[in-house]
Amino acid sequence: MSLGIHAPIPELYVSADSAQKLKLEAANLPSWDLTARQTCDLELLMNGGFNPLKGFLGQADYDNVVETMRLADGALWPMPITLDVSETFAETIEIGQDIALRDIEGVILATMTVTDKWVPNKAREAEKVFGANDLAHPAVHYLHNVAGSVYLGGPVTGIQQPVHYDFKSRRDTPNELRARFRKLGWRKVVAFQTRNPLHRAHQELTFRAAREAEANLLIHPVVGMTKPGDVDHFTRVRCYEAVLDKYPAATTTMSLLNLAMRMAGPREAVWHGLIRKNHGCTHFIVGRDHAGPGKNSQGKDFYGPYDAQELFKQHEAEIGIEMVDFKHMVYVQEKAQYYPANEVPEGCTVLDISGTELRRRLREGLDIPEWFSFPEVVAELRRTSPPRSKQGFTVFFTGLSGSGKSTIANALMVKLMEMGGRPVTLLDGDVVRKHLSSELGFSKEHRDINIKRIGYVASEITKNGGIAICAPIAPYAATRRIVREMIEAYGAFVEVHVATSVEECEKRDRKGLYKLAREGKIKEFTGISDPYEEPVNPELRVDTEGLDVDYCAHQVILKLESMGLIGGK
Ligand code: PPS
Repeated sequence: MSLGIHAPIPELYVSADSAQKLKLEAANLPSWDLTARQTCDLELLMNGGFNPLKGFLGQADYDNVVETMRLADGALWPMPITLDVSETFAETIEIGQDIALRDIEGVILATMTVTDKWVPNKAREAEKVFGANDLAHPAVHYLHNVAGSVYLGGPVTGIQQPVHYDFKSRRDTPNELRARFRKLGWRKVVAFQTRNPLHRAHQELTFRAAREAEANLLIHPVVGMTKPGDVDHFTRVRCYEAVLDKYPAATTTMSLLNLAMRMAGPREAVWHGLIRKNHGCTHFIVGRDHAGPGKNSQGKDFYGPYDAQELFKQHEAEIGIEMVDFKHMVYVQEKAQYYPANEVPEGCTVLDISGTELRRRLREGLDIPEWFSFPEVVAELRRTSPPRSKQGFTVFFTGLSGSGKSTIANALMVKLMEMGGRPVTLLDGDVVRKHLSSELGFSKEHRDINIKRIGYVASEITKNGGIAICAPIAPYAATRRIVREMIEAYGAFVEVHVATSVEECEKRDRKGLYKLAREGKIKEFTGISDPYEEPVNPELRVDTEGLDVDYCAHQVILKLESMGLIGGK
């Protein structure tokens, strides 16, 4: 059914009175604590942003979406919206049962009647939806290493919206936006999706799009979850607010979208189009490499730069929103103006600063020219990303027991304290096990919990401008990656592989543990009866054999210096 842009879109909420009653009843139901991503998904399910979905996908819809980008009834829907749960939780749930869905603070947001429960083929999902079962893709990593192993599906009954304490007046449901457009008399609205701060190229692109479509402009940035390592949404929204003044208020508005992106390129573009249609827009801007995840594990782009535009074009009529496609915008020096890359007048000089180059300039405190961005935006970015030598960071040693991690970590701590400037905290394996993880053993599950706890503390230290030095065994690559992502949101993560061989560690056997492990008196001992996955691409590898501790610690210092993390006063 096609809905006019001004007509209300169906929501999944019950009335306020029923919600009150349902909330009390739901308190007795088995409940699932939603992850951050599921909370974003649920919000858009309930407020109609994901119309026509009525809940988390059941198996038939899921299979169809994965294979054909369509729900079982044939409606176009490119992204599996699934409720992934742990095996332990899934075992307690019967088909037909209602469950309560709670946010991070335990507030019941909705109930779901479980109609389906299944173990998905994640490799297949990765291949079909993201184009490759390659862990370098953030959503594939999420699928395999973060998401639970069982999916539950079923219709959702909405009780209340997730609560947001930030930028309240900038957040709108699809129906609120539709009402705003109605009130303003806007019949044509072109939406601009973004997960980055707006610079001059974006402004030019959005102006051109609005002109081309003879439409009003909705700046519709994603504030839910974006690509790990992106500028946080608080900073971005302050940047958007600064740029908004440069648009004509009569024809431009901004609203924040609490979407959890998947970085699925072409499929994501189609999904974004459907979501914007639901929000009452008539046009949608798709630029170069829309929702691109970056490079795959072979160093190649996952998708072609204009694949998203192509897939969108194929489905444009069905999505019900017109695409405004753009080539990459570049600055033409002689004309002092931005042009699409394919329209640059002949013989002119093209200037461009890539995202990576911008991050480097911010990191190193270098000039960012006025032709590239607005002074207000640059000032805001500099405020939250001071040069690396002023930011917090984490040095994460990993290696076998007895490899020398703790000794080098201690030496490093002393050297950094001698330099001064930032507080230093050492989270040594043994110390953590005593103070943070005393109840944990050495199963894979317990080791992962232990490492994630260390990662959490280190990320807080990093966020607050300190130096965290961690020295656990951390034998699993996927868990180390999760920790890396937690920390890189706030500062640098320097992985140091202390590559002492198991033979050498056993020969040293400082704590006598290898002997006990060989005798079978300690079970699951790393390197003897338990795995250690060597880091493939650590920032630094130190080999302690034949080298003294001081030298190894100094190698780390040199690495930190080369990364710009320590410098002059
Ligand atoms: S993990 O895997 O990262 O959680 O391990 P970690 O917390 O770093 O381990 C800290 C110390 O525990 C001792 N120990 C064991 N190590 C490995 N396997 C088993 N089964 C085990 N049991 C006890 C070991 O001395 C570790 O100390 P380090 O500092 O690494 O020598």
